[in-house]
Amino acid sequence: MQERLKELQQEALNQINAAESLKELQEIKVSYLGKKGPITEVLRGMGKLSEEERPVMGQLANDVRAAIADKLEEKVARLEELEVEKKLANESIDVTLPGRPAQTGGMHPLTSVVETIEDIFVGLGFEVAEGPEVETDYYNFEALNLPKDHPARDMQDSFYITDDILLRTHTSPVQARTMEKFKGQGPVKIICPGKVFRRDDDDATHSHQFMQVEGLYIDENVRMSDLKGVLLEFAKKFFGPNQKIRLRPSFFPFTEPSVEVDISCVICNGEGCRICKETGWIEVLGAGMVHPRVLEMGGFDPKKYSGFAFGMGVERLAMLKYGIDDIRHFYLNDKRFIEQFKRA
Ligand code: FA5
Repeated sequence: MQERLKELQQEALNQINAAESLKELQEIKVSYLGKKGPITEVLRGMGKLSEEERPVMGQLANDVRAAIADKLEEKVARLEELEVEKKLANESIDVTLPGRPAQTGGMHPLTSVVETIEDIFVGLGFEVAEGPEVETDYYNFEALNLPKDHPARDMQDSFYITDDILLRTHTSPVQARTMEKFKGQGPVKIICPGKVFRRDDDDATHSHQFMQVEGLYIDENVRMSDLKGVLLEFAKKFFGPNQKIRLRPSFFPFTEPSVEVDISCVICNGEGCRICKETGWIEVLGAGMVHPRVLEMGGFDPKKYSGFAFGMGVERLAMLKYGIDDIRHFYLNDKRFIEQFKRA
């Protein structure tokens, strides 16, 4: 029996030495140390031995098992090491190869135009305010002197969510919200850039979603000439030092008087072309002196305070600045279009 155990040990060790894969080692382990293996078989015959021989044989069987298990463990570790070495050798890096350039994103042209507009107005002492895109009927219309059923509501076709909640049609509700925050104490000097939504049919100059920048300045003795001065300064900084502006009478329920503001055509320098319909001027924003009723609803005393407000269309300004002939380019996510502005 002793002989048989020693033979088994030698056989197993030879096989382990010759094994070349982890799979082979697993098979050797099962066949020698498993329940149906030859060592277990030998041990089953121990009942026939004398009492003195039994512990000696038991000890020997345990030693043989331990020797095989140790050898297996050692070989598994060695094979694993060899595998890592092989992998490393195959994966060697050629540092002389040129690197692959990393793809970098760029700023969307509308984002960069909004940042430019913000920088100009911050330079003129304005702060940047924000308001919600999902707005109540009260702030979008009523607080701006547009009571329910006012015919001027038709000027801005709206996406209603419920009877009282809608997607804001302009950034002017931020005026009303800001006035409330200041609790009747001027000065207020803010701009608010943001998305607005209207049920307009999409075409080359109209989009159902577009961006506006609202401006609001309330203080004692604010006059129409202040509005004109601020907008002229903006136009010169945004388009160039020779830019001219003109104010035309218009109507908005929340301003009195109201104006539409044109800039001299940046395509033809005011000479007259297809884009400006031969007039030399292009309309870019609506503005006016804040209506006394709106000041009052916002908690300001119209006898003490006056103010101006304006709302400009960001896409229209961007189209003029970069000579873009269709507003839909901003929203089609065509990388060829967007990548042209990477360095803008
Ligand atoms: C307004 O939205 C007023 N809230 C502006 C205002 C603010 C007036 C404060 C007085 C005081 P209007 O509907 O004209 O006004 O829009 C302002 C600008 O948004 C337009 O001059 C135009 O540049 C842009 N705009 C209007 N509709 C669209 C559209 N569908 N797609 C792209 N731009 C548009």
